[in-house]
Amino acid sequence: MNLEYLSGFGNEFASEALPGALPVGQNSPQKAPYGLYTELFSGTAFTMPRSEARRTWLYRIQPSANHPAFVKLERQLAGGPLGAVTPNRLRWNPLDIPGEPTDFIDGLARMVANAASEHPAGISIYNYRANRSMQRVFFNADGELLIVPEQGRLRIATELGVLEVAPLEIVVLPRGLKFRVELLDAQARGYVAENHGAPLRLPDLGPIGSNGLANPRDFLTPVARYEDLKQPTTLVQKFLGELWACELDHSPLNVVAWHGNNVPYKYDLRRFNTIGTVSFDHPDPSIFTVLTSPTSVHGLANLDFVIFPPRWMVAENTFRPPWFHRNLMNEYMGLIQGAYDAKAEGFLPGGASLHSCMSAHGPDGETCTKAINVELAPHKIDNTMAFMFETSQVLRPTQFALECAQLQTTYDACWASLPATFNPNRR
Ligand SMILES: [Fe+2]
Repeated sequence: MNLEYLSGFGNEFASEALPGALPVGQNSPQKAPYGLYTELFSGTAFTMPRSEARRTWLYRIQPSANHPAFVKLERQLAGGPLGAVTPNRLRWNPLDIPGEPTDFIDGLARMVANAASEHPAGISIYNYRANRSMQRVFFNADGELLIVPEQGRLRIATELGVLEVAPLEIVVLPRGLKFRVELLDAQARGYVAENHGAPLRLPDLGPIGSNGLANPRDFLTPVARYEDLKQPTTLVQKFLGELWACELDHSPLNVVAWHGNNVPYKYDLRRFNTIGTVSFDHPDPSIFTVLTSPTSVHGLANLDFVIFPPRWMVAENTFRPPWFHRNLMNEYMGLIQGAYDAKAEGFLPGGASLHSCMSAHGPDGETCTKAINVELAPHKIDNTMAFMFETSQVLRPTQFALECAQLQTTYDACWASLPATFNPNRR
């Protein structure tokens, strides 16, 4: 199916699935066209500065308020509570796709988090695995969702329209937006960052200027599409970390027209305008930021989504892999395809690593030795896409993440083979 999208980031979009369904010149007329109900969907407080405010007006067959009481589900999200504190560097092999029927919600496994769901800042990170489409509709009251597919294409039917995403694309779903994830392939796997803080936005560009990194026109928002279905539908929500559900007699994906900027969107990571050094030294990885969720401290991110895409390496007289470092920020890394240039092995597509505040890390022994001794020439790092969810508060692993069979027990050893090269007699 060829889907239609609206291009731009943060725009005041407008879309209608029936001609004239969108009221003109006012938001809530006494009688909305076609007998639709008007509903305001706010993603930020009413009083936020205009530049940061997110809200969308919905014109729908039934208002969302038309639902019975939610009941707590017996089957809750995988991952369990947070586990013991550990300052150690952690790395996981990819999680297996379950054998039993598992939809996107069943297949979410919380790996790490730095805030309880009720906090207005912080993030939680999940890995997902699924082998069947959702037969139910879901919304997340606890935050915005950034989905990073690693395997399998997804068709995401939302209140505001339908998006299709494949690995190497990402999708962002605003807090509270109702959606259903359908699989376009036999199975799906990937990563989800749940952002409890300020909605993701494009980073400022500073001296880079008015172009570069992720360009606004490459962000795609779906056009209005509605389901006028009078059939029983389970609506699930995540509220303060718990799953609750109610039964509707209609599809809640019943918005016929909408306008606003609180919208879902997708982005193709291959469109990222990668910028790096053309002289010497490895730039800070912030040069690779696709989207950022700021905190109230200027320059300190609640969540940075950073990618390591294919790119040319040309730096002269330079140790080209990411340098050894210890930093304030906490880094959860994943790999969508290929290999990551700082690790020779052990970091696989679908796998993940966690380097917490002030934990020392960098290229492994094999990569480091090669980088010091290699004859430097321009070369292209190709067929790769690693990424990082980076956050200013320490991420704590869940019990699941600490106890699962995929946790590597020998991660530290990848730095143990760094040769002793110091010689006080040879400068
Ligand atoms: Fe790092």
